Amino acid sequence: MRLFKRVEALQRHLQQRKTAGDAVGFVPTMGALHEGHLELLRRSMRENQCTVCSIFVNPTQFNDPTDLAKYPRMPEKDIAALARLGCEVLFMPWEEEIYPQGKDTPTPEVDLQGLDATMEGVHRPGHFAGVVQVVHRLLEIVQPDRLYMGQKDYQQFVIVRHMIRQLGLPVRIIMCPIVREADGLALSSRNLRLTPEARAAAPRIYEVLKEVLAQTARQPDADLEALAAAAFAKLDQLPLKPEYFEIVDGTTLQPVRTLDEADSVVACTAVWAGDVRLIDNIILKWEADEEE
Ligand code: PAF
Repeated sequence: MRLFKRVEALQRHLQQRKTAGDAVGFVPTMGALHEGHLELLRRSMRENQCTVCSIFVNPTQFNDPTDLAKYPRMPEKDIAALARLGCEVLFMPWEEEIYPQGKDTPTPEVDLQGLDATMEGVHRPGHFAGVVQVVHRLLEIVQPDRLYMGQKDYQQFVIVRHMIRQLGLPVRIIMCPIVREADGLALSSRNLRLTPEARAAAPRIYEVLKEVLAQTARQPDADLEALAAAAFAKLDQLPLKPEYFEIVDGTTLQPVRTLDEADSVVACTAVWAGDVRLIDNIILKWEADEEE
C-alpha cells in the first residue's frame, strides 16, 4: 500500500494510473475503520483498478468541540487493516493540505435547498457545510471516477449527491448498504465509546426501525407521521434517548404522510445511547433514480 500525506505526491501517483486507463474508486473516511468502511473499500476494489481511501478527521464538520476531541483516532490499526485488505492508496493528509488557506478555505457555492435544514442539520448546525467543504476538496484532489458512501449517513449521502449534481462534478456516487453487528446495531466508529449498558440497549434502534418497515409492508397506506411518533416513544427508554425519528422523502428529506407521496421513503433516527449519539435508518420504499 502507498501512503501519501501530500496532495502533490498523491496526484502524481494517480496521474500515472489514470494515464494507463485505470479507473479510480474513492472511499473518504475519518478513520477508526470498521467492517462498514471495509465493505465500501471491497466494493471499490471490485469495480476499479485503483482504490484510494482517505483518513482525515475533518474539524469543520464538528459543531461540538468535545465530539471532535473524543473522536477515536487509531492510525496504526487503520493502516494495518488497509494493508491487509490490499487497498492500493491511503491518503492521510496534514490539515494544511486540505485547507491551504485555513479552515475558511472557500468552497463553491452550493444551494442545498433545505436538505441540511432537517434531521441532523437541526441538531448539528454547520455540520453539513463542513461535510460539503471537505468532500468537495477531497474530490478536487483525488478526482475519482467513483465515490463510495455508506447508507448509514443517509442525509450525508443525499447532500453529497446533490452537491455533485449541482456542480456537475464528473464522478459517480454509489451508496452501499449499512453493515450491522449480529444483534442489529449499525457499525459506527462511535460504538467504541458505548458503555456496557448503552451497548446492550442500542440494538433496540434497529428493532424499532424493522417494526416500522414491517408495519408499512402490512399496511401500505399507514399514517407515517403516527408511525414515526410511536417509534420515537418506543425508543424513549433510558439509557436510550431519541433526538428525532422521521420518515422522509428519500430525495427531498421532507417528512411524508404516506408511502405513495414519494418514490423513495426512508425512516431515519438519531438516538443518544448514554453519552454517545447514534444514527440509523431503514429504507421503506426505493426507486433508484436513472443516474444510480
Ligand atoms: O462519513 C464520514 O466519515 C465523513 O463525514 C466524511 C464523508 C469522510 C467527510 O469527512
